Amino acid sequence: MRLHNELDLGAYWLPFTANRAFKANPRLIVSASGTRYRTDDGRELLDGISGLWCCNAGHSHPRIVEAIQRQAAELDYATAFQVGHPTAFELAGRLAAMAPTGFDAVFFTNSGSESVDTALKIALAYHHARGEHSRTRFVGRERGYHGAGFGGMSVGGIANNRKAFGALLPGVVHLPQTHDLDQQAFSRGQPTWGAHLADELERIVAVNHASTIAAVVVEPFAGSAGVLVPPVGYLERLREITQRHGILLIFDEVITAFGRLGAGFAAERFGVVPDIITTAKGLTSGSVPMGAVLARGEIRDTMFDDAGDAIEFFHGYTYSGHPLAAAAAMAALDVYEEEELFHRARRLEPVLEETLHALADKPNVIDVRNIGLAGAIELAPRDGAPGARGSAAFEAAFERGVLVRTTGDIVAVAPPLVVAEQEIAAIGSVLGDVLDDPVLGG
Ligand SMILES: Cc1ncc(COP(=O)(O)O)c(C=O)c1O
Repeated sequence: MRLHNELDLGAYWLPFTANRAFKANPRLIVSASGTRYRTDDGRELLDGISGLWCCNAGHSHPRIVEAIQRQAAELDYATAFQVGHPTAFELAGRLAAMAPTGFDAVFFTNSGSESVDTALKIALAYHHARGEHSRTRFVGRERGYHGAGFGGMSVGGIANNRKAFGALLPGVVHLPQTHDLDQQAFSRGQPTWGAHLADELERIVAVNHASTIAAVVVEPFAGSAGVLVPPVGYLERLREITQRHGILLIFDEVITAFGRLGAGFAAERFGVVPDIITTAKGLTSGSVPMGAVLARGEIRDTMFDDAGDAIEFFHGYTYSGHPLAAAAAMAALDVYEEEELFHRARRLEPVLEETLHALADKPNVIDVRNIGLAGAIELAPRDGAPGARGSAAFEAAFERGVLVRTTGDIVAVAPPLVVAEQEIAAIGSVLGDVLDDPVLGG
């Protein structure tokens, strides 16, 4: 008996899901361990997307489970408003030590969306504290995903995520997206074409004047839009232009931090250091919701100096630095270190690259791309039905025991960093069968 036959599926409104379709054909996961899920009908599912780009240490890692259990018994909750608890301080110090030099201010949130909204607010408040009150505009990027809050939606550039929600934040402009199939299809790692797309920021500055722009926010590689890899030299150019104009650069590292690129942060992998870094997901290996915003110490110091002994940042969350999340994050960082998982991701990068690019000649494949332990296969859309082929691929992979993530007609793969080489091969083999399946052709 399938468990979902016994459940009333009515009340739960799933996020970013076609609920009617889901409830007609529900997929339920009941347990997990390492790289494997188990479904309610007893099938094993290989996790090809680290939960949702988050379970970097694999699922239910005993070390992380034990830390959460211990913390829950010792201290379940302490407010972060004018009171603290030791683990949050310890974690902040550890993150500051891991981050590029100078990022010694850490603000805790509970999700990527909150991290992005927090980063945008820090940028505004910092300029305010410096007396540059006119720096209120943000620059985002087409196809960017920065979460579901109003700030993140505003700087995000995915039309479906924005269309029903009105005017959003005022004064946001968008850079062009960086992916061009004509120029970059089937690139391995960073495409060589496209650094010049960063120059559009100069035009935005010319039209609006630098003194009105607070920050530029980009994902080092765009994950949710389907693994859009930054062209060689692109991030460097954004850094140079922002620096020259006194504009803060925010890297949204909600997906890229904690090993996805074989390094603690994308900033380290690409050798480009922004002013603010947003994180979440891999911080606790997905085990307890938590995010962290890392800012350069000068930003914090400017705000502290301006406020004197008063509150310098009217912002925060009931669950900022939550004890369970902080304990989970400390344990996740231990696991990353002890099992050398960032190094492992770097070592497995060429294995995933070969596996995915071997599918380049399969039917309907118009692009394969990859960076770090992440990659995507882009399929030609069906006439008049964009996304339909992607959905069919998701379902066909699920039926064959592999969980992937699809955005429109793009199939994304980003397994936990503990994945074995044979498991990467198994993902490739299943995707090969999926792409050959006649159900995708029609
Ligand atoms: C780059 C980026 N920013 C923000 C978010 C939002 O994170 P959350 O869903 O935890 O709010 C995501 C989620 O995928 C993301 O990829």
